[in-house]
Amino acid sequence: MNYRTHYCGEVTEQANGEIVRVSGWVHRRRDHGGVIFIDLRDRSGLVQVVIDPDTEEAFANAEQVRNEYCLTIEGKVRPRPEGTTNANLTSGKIEILAKELTILSRSETPPFQLDDKDLSEEVRLRHRTIDLRRQTMQQNLILRSRVIASLRRYLDEHGFLDIETPMLTKATPEGARDYLVPSRTHAGKFFALPQSPQLFKQLLMMSGFDRYYQVVRCFRDEDLRADRQPEFTQLDIEASFIDEQTLMDLMERMMRGVFKDHLDVSLDEPFPRMTYAEAMRRFASDKPDLRIPLELQDIDDLVADCDFNVFATPAKQDNGRVVALNIPQGGKLTRKEIDAYTQFVGRYGAKGLAYIKVNDLSQGVEGLQSPIVKFLGDKVALAIIARVQAQDGDLIFFGADKTSIVNDAIGALRVKIGHDLNLLTHEWAPLWVTDFPMFEFDEKTNRWYSMHHPFTQPNTEDLDELDQNPAKVNSRAYDMVLNGTEIGGGSIRIHRQEMQQRVFKSLGIDADEAQEKFGFLLNALKYGCPPHGGIAFGLDRLIMLMAKASSIRDVMAFPKTQTAYCLLTDAPAEVSEEQLRELHIRRRQIQPIE
Ligand code: AMO
Ligand code: AMP
Repeated sequence: MNYRTHYCGEVTEQANGEIVRVSGWVHRRRDHGGVIFIDLRDRSGLVQVVIDPDTEEAFANAEQVRNEYCLTIEGKVRPRPEGTTNANLTSGKIEILAKELTILSRSETPPFQLDDKDLSEEVRLRHRTIDLRRQTMQQNLILRSRVIASLRRYLDEHGFLDIETPMLTKATPEGARDYLVPSRTHAGKFFALPQSPQLFKQLLMMSGFDRYYQVVRCFRDEDLRADRQPEFTQLDIEASFIDEQTLMDLMERMMRGVFKDHLDVSLDEPFPRMTYAEAMRRFASDKPDLRIPLELQDIDDLVADCDFNVFATPAKQDNGRVVALNIPQGGKLTRKEIDAYTQFVGRYGAKGLAYIKVNDLSQGVEGLQSPIVKFLGDKVALAIIARVQAQDGDLIFFGADKTSIVNDAIGALRVKIGHDLNLLTHEWAPLWVTDFPMFEFDEKTNRWYSMHHPFTQPNTEDLDELDQNPAKVNSRAYDMVLNGTEIGGGSIRIHRQEMQQRVFKSLGIDADEAQEKFGFLLNALKYGCPPHGGIAFGLDRLIMLMAKASSIRDVMAFPKTQTAYCLLTDAPAEVSEEQLRELHIRRRQIQPIE
């Protein structure tokens, strides 16, 4: 059987007078006193079909039809009568007068109407097959497919080879927990699913493939958020004999091309670049949203000697920070709104949210309204006003605490206020963040961790500096940030074995452990490793931004819930005793997780 000559959405006035065949789902059926109208839907859109009682068999079939029945229709294209055209549809100027209507399969009443806007995510994920029929989901996944095709084309054209790497492998440290797979043939041993192909792509450089890419699934057992999933897709890239400048240029051009081709958007050329230190100082974030024109000002020097200890104490501490965030015309915020922001920063550990409302500067401190000016003293208050260049009608918020708390709280507050007050100055703000610290210290475990991963090249060749002054060493890592989301991250890698061993040592990984975990890498590094570097993009995040979706789950066909569960298939699930025995696993008494 020939099911179609056209996709529904592609039947336009050009086909007027022609006989066409379309197949799809009944989006809506309306009975209009003898005549039946069906909006037939496929992935391309809708077309209106008219069934006249004169075509008896087709009409009899159409009378049985309900929403979501799957049909094939043959008929003649004709212009819609005056006044009934629909400018929102590509097929909105025509309709098909049916000659033949075949019911391919019937549908029970679906669990929800496709145009219902208030569906819970639970319902949507449980009935994902139906949910994916909705127009936004169709458009998101079509965009995803096309963007990935463009990215592949660009990389192919620039000499990158698509090479697959194993899914059943050994742990690669990217900072999350591993998903483990028990081995049947090696009792008591486990594979790890890759958190990224990091080490394999480096080995491919050592093998001489020069330029590699892969659209690859990565697995990370970590706490989930709107832009994180336990399995997600990276566009993973690595190149040899390359420095960061060349690599960043290549990647920027790729992104500019994709945005131009798919959204007709011209991204900045070149992308702005900012060091990590500058990003933290000005925006309290390593992924600053540059659409928001608000900046922090450090005021430690101004408040260190004042009598207000809430400010003075952190101002004097090495790991403390005191900042002011001026909100132009923020004076219109109500007490209630300020209280809500105080609660908001509380979630990030801030103990309060001091503020100064600038009512009338011509009156000096008398023109300021604030719970803290009396503690700060007039001189300090006016010095702060001058530093942030506040004007009448502005409002200044303050954060004072450990640096990490101030950055988390005020960094998030800046973004929230930017959105709440509609301050966004432009639609797309890409940038590169560079010169990350090589290591970060974790107070809980009292040791140093890699900020990126342990294979990142430090920006010093001085091996002793690594040991003596780890906090001062930066790395040759870079992140691509778009609208406040980190869409990609990478680095130039260590290509000398000695350096790799020193970095492991700085991380508290001794020679034996390094050999056991990364022996294959250390070994490969002995045989002539080219300088190399790369990057990986979070494709789900990139597409989420391009599609203006609010969650990466809306650009993935079959995502997991916030508790890493698949509602559609009910996975993870129990397995039989026999399977467990084969895998050499015995169940312990466990409490099911709620
Ligand atoms: P990184 O860990 O920064 O780098 O990951 C690269 C990009 O992947 C995306 N991403 C995620 N997306 C969805 N869900 C998650 N759970 C998730 N975790 C990360 C982010 C991130 O920028 N091997 C290195 C890359 C390299 O050095 O070349 C790596 O994996 O957008
Ligand atoms: P208090 O002395 O606790 O009454 O606080 C006076 C003002 O300072 C209030 O507006 C608090 O919200 C604010 N505040 C308290 N702690 C902090 C802090 N760590 N950072 C910023 N503001 C604070």
